[in-house]
Amino acid sequence: MLDKTQGEIVNQIVEVFKREFGSREGMIMVRTPGRVNLIGEHTDYNEGYVFPTTINRAVYIAIRPRSDRTCVFYSLNFQDTASWDLADIRRSDGPHWSNYLKGVMKVLGEAGVRFAGSEGVVFGDVPIASGLSSSAAIEVAVSFALDRAFGLGLDPVQAALLGQKAENAFVGVKCGIMDQFVCRLGRKGHALFLDCRSLAYENVPLRLAKHGLLIVDTKVKRELAQSAYNQRRAECEEAVRHFQAKAPAVKALRDVDPDMFARYREGLADVVGRRAAHVVSEDARVLEAVHALKADDLETVGRLFFESHRSLRDDYEVSAPELDFIVEAARASGASGARLTGAGFGGCAVVLARKGILDGLSQDIEVHYVRKFGKAPGIIALTDNFETDVVAS
Ligand code: GLA
Repeated sequence: MLDKTQGEIVNQIVEVFKREFGSREGMIMVRTPGRVNLIGEHTDYNEGYVFPTTINRAVYIAIRPRSDRTCVFYSLNFQDTASWDLADIRRSDGPHWSNYLKGVMKVLGEAGVRFAGSEGVVFGDVPIASGLSSSAAIEVAVSFALDRAFGLGLDPVQAALLGQKAENAFVGVKCGIMDQFVCRLGRKGHALFLDCRSLAYENVPLRLAKHGLLIVDTKVKRELAQSAYNQRRAECEEAVRHFQAKAPAVKALRDVDPDMFARYREGLADVVGRRAAHVVSEDARVLEAVHALKADDLETVGRLFFESHRSLRDDYEVSAPELDFIVEAARASGASGARLTGAGFGGCAVVLARKGILDGLSQDIEVHYVRKFGKAPGIIALTDNFETDVVAS
């Protein structure tokens, strides 16, 4: 069952679909949530562990197959129509919303998946460019919409990998697999523990009991993010070469455990050593956090959040003054834990706190943030989370 706001969103999209395409005959609508990473940051492209969960904000696609090879889509967010021919898919200049649809259709076609043209409406309420994976959500929603509209029988893991491929090759962002994976395979009421090397995963019940989660959006545009992200990847590769020379079995930082790191660290340049220190310790924190959540030990999960933030701030150097401020404000207001989430350089922080203090804490953060930075943060209470599903037909 959809709640009232969800129902309103669906109804509005149906109305727009009828206005743009004449009737809703043959239309189906899918929904894919964005994600917040609980812990395991910058570990996915090091073949390590991540522990994200989906959120209660999503991308919706209402779609109807056509009998020709043309695609016509209307974006409700941008109030803009784009159309293309499946035989000749070209990237639009700049960060255009239609590139996500085109990119996924292109990689699906290249993977030998056959489908005809389609028409539809796209809408999302995942904040854009905030580190909550609006891109991965739209990529996953597109392949899921095509899957359901044309009965493609796509394997969900394959769909996640194709979404990542579209992002890497067509949109041009060198991301890891975490975002598309959790957007497609994450489950309601669960967080997803993923081994980014084997892609083995486990949906772990997100039993928060007396605790709650807040997402605090700094509203800082992540301008540096792209080049700094690629630079971090290159530094990790450099660290791998160093450890490989000492221990040939090392293929990725995933293979370096804290003991090996301590033994062979000498000789690494300071910056590269700190990057590796983050990744090695973060992988260990993910394993501990999964264990603690299963044991209903939310205070330990919180402590690991704070430690992860310190490591991301000092060793991986991907924080921002606004993120550090939110984490410290949360700590001062009694939160169990807080950390930046996603790539960093702006975007969002995730805060874990006991339910009894959650409202006051949220107000404190807002008041102090406005006083310090002159703008209000966006605050989302994670009271619920969604999974990729069909919401109307
Ligand atoms: C972005 C990328 C992910 C991951 C995170 C950092 O969200 O898309 O693949 O690398 O940054 O953990």
